Amino acid sequence: MNKNELTKDNIVDFILDLFARRGAEEYLGEAVSMAQHMEQSAACAVADGATESLVIALLLHDIGHFIGDFPVEALEKGIDNCHEDAGASFLAPYFSKAVTEPIRLHVAAKKYLCAVDNEYINRLSDASVQSLNVQGGPMTDDEVKHFESNPHHLSAIKARRYDDDGKVFGLTIRPIKDYRAQLESLLTP
Ligand SMILES: [Fe+2]
Repeated sequence: MNKNELTKDNIVDFILDLFARRGAEEYLGEAVSMAQHMEQSAACAVADGATESLVIALLLHDIGHFIGDFPVEALEKGIDNCHEDAGASFLAPYFSKAVTEPIRLHVAAKKYLCAVDNEYINRLSDASVQSLNVQGGPMTDDEVKHFESNPHHLSAIKARRYDDDGKVFGLTIRPIKDYRAQLESLLTP
């Protein structure tokens, strides 16, 4: 299926196929694959009682690594691939902002938390610290204020913490194909 042929009727099949084809790829030097990382992040959201939209946001939050213009390892090589924008823009025709905005803001949320929470950076994996530098480092005071004015910023902060927790080697959790009904139910009319 070509990206140009996507509609609301086939987007979920396309996403599941994308994960089947690309999901086993390495995740920026972490101990889990790309698909495992997103599935684990979604499981953290479920365990925390997050909304269904936020669970699906986590399930798809790094999809931009698959559909952006850069190879997955771009960030490791010091190139900001803007995967958060690529993923959110790709999904925007099919899902509401409750799904796409936490995706668009999940890198900003890392930069925000590094600016406002002294303990936060210690929780980050080495790969996340490395990509933080490529992504511009912690927010300035003005950037913090701007971020806090976004109505989706609290969801994005939650998403970021689930994202950081979804990197556990060897943990088997619910695979994305078992989320088909939820993905379909969240498609915008
Ligand atoms: Fe992630």
